[in-house]
Amino acid sequence: MKFKNLHQFLRQEVNRGELGTELAKLIVDISISGKLLDAQIKKYAFSKSIINSSTNVHGEKQHQLDIMAHDIFLNTLKDGRVCSYLISEEYKEILELDPIPNQSIFTVCIDPLDGSSNIDVNVSVGSIFSIYVQDKPASKNSLSLKSGRNQCCGGYLIYGPVTMFIFTYGKQVFGFTLNSELGEFVLTHDNIKLSKEGYTYSVNEGNLNEFPGQVKEYLKFCKHHDQENMLPYKSRYIGSMVADIHRTLFHGGIFLYPSTALFPNGKLRLIYECNPIALIIERAGGLAIDGMRPVLDIPIMSSHQKVPFIAGSYNMVKKVLHLYKNAS
Ligand code: AHG
Ligand code: MN
Ligand code: MN
Ligand code: MN
Repeated sequence: MKFKNLHQFLRQEVNRGELGTELAKLIVDISISGKLLDAQIKKYAFSKSIINSSTNVHGEKQHQLDIMAHDIFLNTLKDGRVCSYLISEEYKEILELDPIPNQSIFTVCIDPLDGSSNIDVNVSVGSIFSIYVQDKPASKNSLSLKSGRNQCCGGYLIYGPVTMFIFTYGKQVFGFTLNSELGEFVLTHDNIKLSKEGYTYSVNEGNLNEFPGQVKEYLKFCKHHDQENMLPYKSRYIGSMVADIHRTLFHGGIFLYPSTALFPNGKLRLIYECNPIALIIERAGGLAIDGMRPVLDIPIMSSHQKVPFIAGSYNMVKKVLHLYKNAS
């Protein structure tokens, strides 16, 4: 693939009329935050001093890097002066920023650090982002976002053996890899597609007894022996959503975080985890549902609402959808 760094790519897309200049600037701001956070993670991942005692709006213990990650995105977006509103996993309220006045209002929703409980055991973690653009006047109320269908851009960064930046703002899903010698994100995947079939399932089986009957039935199917249909499937669960989704996107498969007794509406958050990932999965040719319907169609009722989340290869997720529909 011909060398193209993120700036060259975005300039080309703006010149082609595929991308607005404001959104291009926001994508650059996200990439800068990703580079800064990549460096912080490598610097602080194992230092005991950063185990924090604070909790976030979800009652989750906040790792110091959760807070550092939030601050990095907040400060970069503030300095970039394009974003008007920021919704973050690590902050209860909607943050109002001070953009250069223009006719569009941009709202960015972020999970600054996903999978943070894995940081101190050197497992891949990520950041997830979702962007909406509205004409003035946009209210501060997240209701104005209506649903994930209205995202103008979404994607994630994964901090692993290499750091990658995966995003979509149109028909295609693009992948950039951080070249640490150059300190640049370089285009490595110009049209990521998700296979219709897969042979891996990814779920926290510790919750099996509490899953809805349809999920229990599907997992039984995944485990039964049938060489002709390449069953049983492989089980792979990392516990960082971004890492489990990244493997699913590149190798095919299905990821499930259904409702459980502890999380009756699911654990994953609609606005800054499920919607951006669902946008990537659908644009790559897969399917992302809450059991009964596409996640992107779920009405946004609050900034931190949770939903059950089942996503991956189209034919696999379709099978789960049929189980839910037949049970209803
Ligand atoms: P976060 O670190 O942003 O709070 O997200 C953690 C999420 C997600 O990354 C992962 O899929 C899920 O928690 C794992 O939950 P369990 O440990 O309950 O399986
Ligand atoms: Mn968290
Ligand atoms: Mn998360
Ligand atoms: Mn998080």
